[in-house]
Amino acid sequence: MTAQLSKKSEAWSARFNEPVSDLVKRYTASVFFDKRLAQVDIQGSLAHAEMLAHQNIISQQDHAEIQRGMAQIQEEIAAGKFEWLLDLEDVHLNIEKRLTELVGDAGKRLHTGRSRNDQVATDIRLYVRSEIDNIVGLLRDLRLALLDLAEKHADTILPGFTHMQVAQPITFGHHMLAYVEMFSRDAERMLDCRKRVNRLPLGAAALAGTTFPIDRERVARTLDFEDVCHNSLDAVSDRDFAIEFCAAAALIMTHVSRMSEEFVIWMSPRVGFIDIADRFCTGSSIMPQKKNPDVPELARGKTGRVNGHLIALLTLMKGQPLAYNKDNQEDKEPLFDTVDTVVDTLRIFADMATGITVKPEAMRDAALQGYATATDLADYLVKKGLPFRDAHEAVAHAVRACVDRGCDLSNLTLEEMRVFSSLIEADIFEVLTLEGSVAARNHVGGTAPQQVRLAIARHRSHLN
Ligand code: ARG
Repeated sequence: MTAQLSKKSEAWSARFNEPVSDLVKRYTASVFFDKRLAQVDIQGSLAHAEMLAHQNIISQQDHAEIQRGMAQIQEEIAAGKFEWLLDLEDVHLNIEKRLTELVGDAGKRLHTGRSRNDQVATDIRLYVRSEIDNIVGLLRDLRLALLDLAEKHADTILPGFTHMQVAQPITFGHHMLAYVEMFSRDAERMLDCRKRVNRLPLGAAALAGTTFPIDRERVARTLDFEDVCHNSLDAVSDRDFAIEFCAAAALIMTHVSRMSEEFVIWMSPRVGFIDIADRFCTGSSIMPQKKNPDVPELARGKTGRVNGHLIALLTLMKGQPLAYNKDNQEDKEPLFDTVDTVVDTLRIFADMATGITVKPEAMRDAALQGYATATDLADYLVKKGLPFRDAHEAVAHAVRACVDRGCDLSNLTLEEMRVFSSLIEADIFEVLTLEGSVAARNHVGGTAPQQVRLAIARHRSHLN
């Protein structure tokens, strides 16, 4: 074992007198998770090599050899035949070592004017950028699915809640549109974050730049970066973009989690507002009657780990002096798990939105209880000239009387109602209906079915 280790440590550097222990090797290696960066690592290396050749820092011959070797490495990785070695620490050294095996000295020249510090920073930016694009697409799919559901139920009435107490009638379409707004902001936030992700660190080398006549703008253009990072120390040490990404991801999950909480409540037999298709639920191993909303529950739970990753990255960075420190290797697993969790969750939720059955009768029954139209009665009195605070008081008396009698406001006769205010006339009964209540809130952002349809059209034209 020792012999093998010392052989490897020689390959690493003549500077060392003894090899690291197996335990330390395992502790410091990242290849088993950062091999996920292989594609972007090769992409970055090819852009770097092209620039080196263009600047005559390496020969055209070397450039061609590097391209040939990288093409083969890509094939080996795609075929699952690439041998990832713990001894070679990370994705970068594994690929470089294989390249040198394949093409000799040209492979050894690739690292000219570059360090793993600017290399890994570039890789992560390329990775995060492509995942942002992926997530923005998934947020669009989810919104389209929610818009379909909202349209189907633009007229379906349910009670809206504050403090989990029946507040006012709303439409289910309107309720779904609230989530569409949240996911629209999430997409916006991701695209805003993308601007700061999309800068090229390469060229910063280890920390101070390089003595070779490199052309950083050229590499930036090749890799579709909008600009280069303008300070070499910042370029290799900055992970703000990863933190921003994780913050935006945490908000996505927070929105998913709130929606999940509602789905769980709505699917409880005690509420019975919706049913979720069987493919998103599971049964119980002991209680045969159960159908549990596992997917929303799990998404609510997974929000915790994504929030945790954000805190992990913030904590990772807070004590680091400039410039690069090995601490930074710890940025990857939180980032990767954030991506995996958000991507899977969004895909499942877009599908689940199509598998939701709404139960309008149960929603309607619930809206008819709890004096959901009390505010409408107060507004009615205001329109007849009563100051709002007096109207509020008059309706409070009416509600109290109904509670004592165990009936709804609309069950009172005109005579009984006039006890609370002589301004009440026969046209009150229309005001106290659920349909009248929602239709009356007919302004931008209101719950009226007409507004719901307008909002759906607006979102759709934005998404198409
Ligand atoms: N595996 C390292 C990381 O993820 C690559 C950079 C290492 N650089 C260094 N000087 N040790 O950050």
